[in-house]
Formats: sequence, C-alpha cells, structure tokens
Amino acid sequence: MKPIPTNFTKLLGIDVPIIGAPMFLVSNVDIVTEVSNCGGIGTFPALNYRPIEAYKKALVDMRARTKKPIGVNIIVNKSNSRQAEDLKYALDAGVNLFITSLGNPSTVIVEGHKIGAKIICDVTNLDHAKKVQDLGADGVIAVGYGAGGHAGPISPIVLIPWLKRELKIPVIAAGGVTDGPTMAAMLALGADGVSVGTRFIASKEAQVENGYKNAIVTSSPEDIVLTTRISGTPANVIRTPYIDKVGTDLPWAIGALKNNKLAKKYVTPLIHLFGMRALDQAANKPTWKTVWSAGQGVGLIDDVLSCREIMETLVNGYFETIEQMP
Ligand SMILES: Cc1cc2nc3c(=O)[nH]c(=O)nc-3n(C[C@H](O)[C@H](O)[C@H](O)COP(=O)(O)O)c2cc1C
Repeated sequence: MKPIPTNFTKLLGIDVPIIGAPMFLVSNVDIVTEVSNCGGIGTFPALNYRPIEAYKKALVDMRARTKKPIGVNIIVNKSNSRQAEDLKYALDAGVNLFITSLGNPSTVIVEGHKIGAKIICDVTNLDHAKKVQDLGADGVIAVGYGAGGHAGPISPIVLIPWLKRELKIPVIAAGGVTDGPTMAAMLALGADGVSVGTRFIASKEAQVENGYKNAIVTSSPEDIVLTTRISGTPANVIRTPYIDKVGTDLPWAIGALKNNKLAKKYVTPLIHLFGMRALDQAANKPTWKTVWSAGQGVGLIDDVLSCREIMETLVNGYFETIEQMP
C-alpha cells in the first residue's frame, strides 16, 4: 500500500496513519495482526481476553504473526481491577502503542515510556486533552460525536481543528471514518491519523454474531442512539427493540446514586459490570437483549470485507479523494 506519511506514522514507524481501533468484544488476533501487516497499527482492549492467561497467549500469538507495531488499550479507571496486570504483560511483550481510556493515564505513560512505547489517550474535549499532554502523552485520540463506543458531544469537524490548534502532540480522529473520503476529510481538518472502529465490525475476521454484522451493514445513521445505560458514560449503540424497551437513560435511582459523592465509587463499577455483561451476551450469541455498539458510520458500510480490503478501501480511497478534489 502506498505510504501516507504524517507525524503519527513517524512516531510509530508505520506506513499509513490508520489505527484499527480497540473494540471491546470485537478486536481479536486476526484483526490486529492484519491491520498491522497492512501498514497501519492494530490494537485491542486487554479485557477482550479473559482470564489473564488468554491475554498473555493473545500477545504471544500477535507477536508471532506480525513483526509490525501493535497496540493495547487499557481502561484506566477503577472498574478495571486487572489494569496493573494488563500493563505488565503488554510491557513484557514489548507492545509499541498504548491507548488509554476512561481515567488517569499517568502510570501507563511512565511505564510505557521506559520500554520506548508510545501512549495516546482517548479524549473528547480540550480540557482532558491538555491534561494528558501535560502528563507526557504522545498523542490524543479525539473521539467525536457519532463515534462507536463511548462518544464525545462535539462534531469532529470542529473537534479536530480545535484540538490541533491548541495542542503540540499529534491528534488522531475517531468517529465515522469508514472509507477514503471520510479519512481524507479528517486529514484535511488537521488530523495526524484516524482510528477506525465500526468499519472493522463488518469484517471477515471479526468473530461476532452474524446478526451484529448484518445490523452494521443494514443500519442507517438514524438507527444509532446514545445511551448511558451501559457504563454510565454516553455510548452509541444500534437501536433495537430491546434498547427501545429499556430506554437510553440509567434508571432514576441508579443515576442518583451515581451522582452521589459517597455512593459513586461503588455504583459506577457495578453499572460497568452489568453493561459489559449485556454487550458480551449480544455480541456472541443471538439474544433478545440486543445491545450492539456501533457508530453513525454504519450508514456508509454496505458489505462485509476482509481487513485487507478495508485497509485498501481506506488508503486507495484517500488518494482518489484528494486527487478528485475541486
Ligand atoms: C463495538 C465497539 C467497542 C468499543 N470498545 C472500546 C474499548 O474497549 N476501548 C476504547 O478505548 N474504545 C472502544 N471503542 C471506541 C473505538 O476505539 C473508536 O474510538 C471508535 O470505534 C471510533 O469510531 P467509529 O466506530 O465511528 O469508527 C469501541 C467502539 C466500538 C464500535
């Protein structure tokens, strides 16, 4: 694939500025290694592999199947009781990139830098972006409105140039990138790279339930709704009869406990646990309790492709787009 050099590709020594985004229950060894072997960087949430032995094995398998850089996503808030181990084994495996989400990335930044890894942090606003820059992060992933998973409230068309203007470190755009034109648009806005999630759910390598892949291919952007029920933090999911039934807000009493200073630290991990359990069930087998996470980019996805085909669509489509610009 023809290289697309940016500050982000230089930071990691990769050919094209595309992250195969970490996706809970979706990212796997096949997706990660294929994205990396195509010149981008594949990443996965450490918690996709449970128990911890499965995680260690996944890291060994990935290292055996690609010599290219790979990345791990570590959830750095209290709901993740495994974060110290997640970090330790990734460091042992010489992981090249850490993506932190939902908390304070300090430990990952300090320890990751000791082995020469780069650390980039999910952010949804300038405040958080400046904080992680001050902590020593090597870049931020600007998660805009409409992204799959936890999504921010700001449109990418403003978020990217806003962060770019204020930060000294690379800004990676996340949310809605599915093809060449969407990738070119993010780079035109100043992004140093893109992080692509939803597009890879409809990949041959994803091992999720067929109904989930089918929903990605057939849904429109209007089918995506923002819900706080999964983790307490707004996340995008596909609207299904189950989502209609349970609604998109936390039940009133749980919401009140979550906002209570004393109860918060006990309630938040529980909300996470139940939300993750619901996602887990829906991703892996047919169930009427359908909670499928995805972003508005579903509207631009019409087929299930291999990861290599998706990478070609992004890279070749990027060049076609910039050549055809008026
Ligand atoms: C099914 C799904 C699961 C996700 N899980 C995680 C996760 O565990 N950790 C994380 O940092 N981001 C997670 N995300 C967010 C992605 O890393 C990325 O920011 C997002 O998918 C980009 O937007 P897009 O889906 O429109 O491409 C998830 C996204 C999806 C669609």
